[in-house]
Amino acid sequence: MTTSVDDERRALARRRFLRFMAASPLAAWAARASGLPSVLDLTSAADLASDAIALQKADAVIASLDQALNVLDFEAVAKRKLPPAHFGYLATGTDDDATVRANREAFARYQLRMRRLVDVGEVDTSVTIFGVTYDTPIVLAPVSSQKAFHAEGEIAVARAARAKRHLQILSTVSSTAVEPVNEARGEPVWYQLYPTDDWTITEALVARAERAGCPVLVLTVDNVATNRETLERFKRQDTRECKVCHLHPWDRSQLYRPMFAGLDISKATRLSPHAWNWDTVSRLKDRTRMKLVLKGLVTREDAQMAVERGVEGIVVSNHGGRSEDSQRGSIESLREVIEGAGGKVPVLIDSGFRRGTDIFKALALGATAVCIGRPYVWGLAGFGQPGVEKVLEILHRELVVVMRQAGTPAIARIGSEYVVDRGRW
Ligand SMILES: Cc1cc2nc3c(=O)[nH]c(=O)nc-3n(C[C@H](O)[C@H](O)[C@H](O)COP(=O)(O)O)c2cc1C
Repeated sequence: MTTSVDDERRALARRRFLRFMAASPLAAWAARASGLPSVLDLTSAADLASDAIALQKADAVIASLDQALNVLDFEAVAKRKLPPAHFGYLATGTDDDATVRANREAFARYQLRMRRLVDVGEVDTSVTIFGVTYDTPIVLAPVSSQKAFHAEGEIAVARAARAKRHLQILSTVSSTAVEPVNEARGEPVWYQLYPTDDWTITEALVARAERAGCPVLVLTVDNVATNRETLERFKRQDTRECKVCHLHPWDRSQLYRPMFAGLDISKATRLSPHAWNWDTVSRLKDRTRMKLVLKGLVTREDAQMAVERGVEGIVVSNHGGRSEDSQRGSIESLREVIEGAGGKVPVLIDSGFRRGTDIFKALALGATAVCIGRPYVWGLAGFGQPGVEKVLEILHRELVVVMRQAGTPAIARIGSEYVVDRGRW
């Protein structure tokens, strides 16, 4: 997880306490008696400078969109505005959230090699996936239950995606059904599938997405078991009566989302079945005329299997660190998945992308496009549709900046020669 405003405040308080101790006569006496440098000597100018930065950050919950410098600025707003349990649902990883942190830290493994004196007057960020050209390689990842973050939920997100011409992927457990989302987006979105462990439901969901015109089915395969402690901790802070809105027990509540309306859910026990395997993937592939993309692959072997089974696209993902404690940054899995896919299918990636440079690194390593999850939901929680638009605009602007810095005026120009893999891991 990123450093929160609360962390900044705690660090500031610690430093103030240190300085208070340093100024005390007792500390001066102890230093003289021991012959060691006093704590006062350690309170350097650098400390004071970092105090100033911490102070800025601590007070920096943006009040309006024009104050946002980068997408991380939206996290603090979301935390302030959302009920604790809802923010906890958004922020949580699994176990100690180590994979959430690994997703961010892993970008430091890759440095950029900048070329100079290239004409970057015009920068073209467009990409083509399955024959469709998008203005930008930045994709909105499927995120469940968006009305938990803003009253307009998926509709606000779809309108933002339309305004900024981004590809959007809609979750099976959305709080708005696929048809109104497609209408708000102005064209059919890609549909993400949690098949459940009842094949009748799988078929019904697929049929509905097909009827709605969705061209691509994204089967999520990385969410079979998880332990979300951060969510539980935030829930304990929430004093509201959850049952007012959550009418069903937590573990079944997702089966009451709009996409399950009218279906017999009595036999379903899970969204992501434990028993699915490559044969079930083939069965699904035979059942649909939509293109089939697997979301959640992180190894060469699985990428090879996917291609062998006729899968038409891959999203490298560890679910934003929510579904496993692998402690491996998603970007570190990218190269091997691309090798496994052998150039036969497009490979997208998500998990931890917060900067234009992050996106650039993935494109340089061979990704076709990059999906983002939490950042656009922070924007949604803070400011609704304009917040989502602002997040997308900032990421796009940052991408254009790094493309100019690196001397790559088009996405196709961003090759592996633009990154150095420090290979520390
Ligand atoms: C609150 C939340 C809900 C999510 N719901 C889904 C979902 O319904 N289906 C799915 O495939 N992925 C889901 N994801 C995972 C995202 O699609 C994506 O993989 C992840 O958010 C990317 O990491 P990032 O948040 O660090 O950008 C969810 C993520 C979050 C944060």
